Amino acid sequence: MTLNADAKKVLLRKIPHGLFICGVREGDQVNGFTASWVTQGSFEPPLVVMAVRSDSTSHGMIERSTRFSLNVLRADQKDLAAVFFKPQAGVGGRFDAAPYDEGPLGLPLLKDAVGGVECELVGSVAHGDHTVFVGEVKTATLIADGEALNLASTGWNYGG
Ligand SMILES: Cc1cc2nc3c(=O)[nH]c(=O)nc-3n(C[C@H](O)[C@H](O)[C@H](O)COP(=O)(O)O)c2cc1C
Repeated sequence: MTLNADAKKVLLRKIPHGLFICGVREGDQVNGFTASWVTQGSFEPPLVVMAVRSDSTSHGMIERSTRFSLNVLRADQKDLAAVFFKPQAGVGGRFDAAPYDEGPLGLPLLKDAVGGVECELVGSVAHGDHTVFVGEVKTATLIADGEALNLASTGWNYGG
């Protein structure tokens, strides 16, 4: 059986996605990157599922620290999402564009966003070019409820 690659691409791009800043910390080093492959995975305990490129800096930091945060961007924060997917000179430099507080788990939570959650890693599937991480939501900080940024509104694609 051969996969119809064109149909696969069109169909997988129909999956709706939000846009988030995933925050990571390993010792004194913090980093953050734009993530769209994110969804909820359980009500109780509250789980989130996020796929992370295996060749990214943050991938190893999540594996070693077993934690990550997810910051929910406002609908008007597209420019910030772009900062967090572009290559950076030094690890963590992207936060120059977006001040953060340390959450109760020590992870970066943006000061200006809808809010953010901190998660402890409870599972992973490493198969292919991304690892699917499952995180249990341990803290939640709501700054100001409002419309969140989604991938479709940006004209960007990540998927297919
Ligand atoms: C629209 C968009 C969505 C993205 N979504 C993800 C994602 O869900 N998971 C991921 O690992 N990378 C995603 N990326 C790519 C990362 O943001 C990018 O590789 C980043 O540079 C990784 O940073 P790091 O190497 O400092 O960890 C996305 C990029 C774009 C443009």
